[in-house]
Amino acid sequence: MTDPTPNASADAPQMPVMAAQTQAASAGVESESQLPLAPYKTLSEEVLRERIEAVRNHFGEELLILGHHYQQDDVIEHTDLRGDSYQLSEMAAGSSKCRTIVFCGVHFMAETADILANRPDRVEARDGRKVDVLLPDMAAGCSMADMAGIRQVEAAWADMGEIIDTEQVIPVTYINSAASLKAFCGRHGGIVCTSSNARAVLEWAFERGQRVFFFPDQHLGRNTALTMGITEEQMPVWDPYALEMGGNEDAQIENSRVILWKGHCSVHQMFRPEHVAKFRADHPGIKILVHPECPRDVNDIADVSGSTGKIIKTVQEAEPGTKWAIGTELHLVNRLKAEHPEQEIHFLSPVVCMCATMYRIDLPHLCWTLENLRDGNLVNQISVDEETTKWSLIALERMLAVK
Ligand code: 13P
Ligand code: SF4
Repeated sequence: MTDPTPNASADAPQMPVMAAQTQAASAGVESESQLPLAPYKTLSEEVLRERIEAVRNHFGEELLILGHHYQQDDVIEHTDLRGDSYQLSEMAAGSSKCRTIVFCGVHFMAETADILANRPDRVEARDGRKVDVLLPDMAAGCSMADMAGIRQVEAAWADMGEIIDTEQVIPVTYINSAASLKAFCGRHGGIVCTSSNARAVLEWAFERGQRVFFFPDQHLGRNTALTMGITEEQMPVWDPYALEMGGNEDAQIENSRVILWKGHCSVHQMFRPEHVAKFRADHPGIKILVHPECPRDVNDIADVSGSTGKIIKTVQEAEPGTKWAIGTELHLVNRLKAEHPEQEIHFLSPVVCMCATMYRIDLPHLCWTLENLRDGNLVNQISVDEETTKWSLIALERMLAVK
């Protein structure tokens, strides 16, 4: 069985583990249908592996197991395709032969897969058959996505509409958000972005409106807009818990170019400028590579900033012997370290930060989900309602069309 301790980085094995949790996970919510999972917890890794592979062989191309780069290695081993959020969306959108997608990632990713894999043209091409999307653990959420609820976003929209023309505001939601927020963007002329296309999406938005309302990640919004010459002063932060105007003076909203939602990733906010300074002092020539969900003070001083896909590509293309301190989720950094012994790779923080909700997907959950599928039971199916799907799809298709 997998040790609950993450594959600790050689740089920081004894440090406390800081983990991102969703509200659901921290409240210990577990779907009732998961109670029969217990026997799987007692199986050895070897047995779990064999049983998972048996189900994969049974279904062949009808089953697609997708895995986000932050998944643990023993889960990644059983995936057909792995990628960052954007790549996984494209894979789901392109799926033609499969009948079921098992998503080893978090809830918003599985929702996106359900919406994209079941686009009307795809369903028609499959003679009306929909693809079922399963998430091995329903408590695999995203704490950042939980920071913006649809009612809060609608209330913010109505409030700002008292002083600015919202016809001229383009809502942009990071893909790390509930489908209801994507639908909000679809309804209001907006769009979805991922960390790999955020700049192109903001450019798309500014071709259509004067301002952008960006949620839920303030850091991705700010870091991206700064590269476009938008200043911090033009980016007020909207606090959904503030009593008026998201905690801003009217003038701040009137003078804004990008209104940033007060949300963040609990994992990436752990990286600090002092970590960068220490690595630079201790390892002359080291390059700092971070995800744009990191706060501005880290992102600004990094050598390279980019999505998980870009982080991987940057390391793959570097000269042997290059030294890196990488600021993103621990499992990915450890995998890069193992796959690139020709380079010197460090984890940027002295604290072991991992995405605890991604980590909920493990071999017992995967095996349980797959064996139920083989036996004709769909467990933990993610199915977005029709109305939400219709509007989310509009915002997602706008994103996929932006190059
Ligand atoms: P990517 O878009 O880089 O896959 O990031 C997803 C994510 O959740 C990062 O925290
Ligand atoms: Fe959400 Fe952060 Fe985990 Fe990504 S790493 S899924 S943003 S909590």
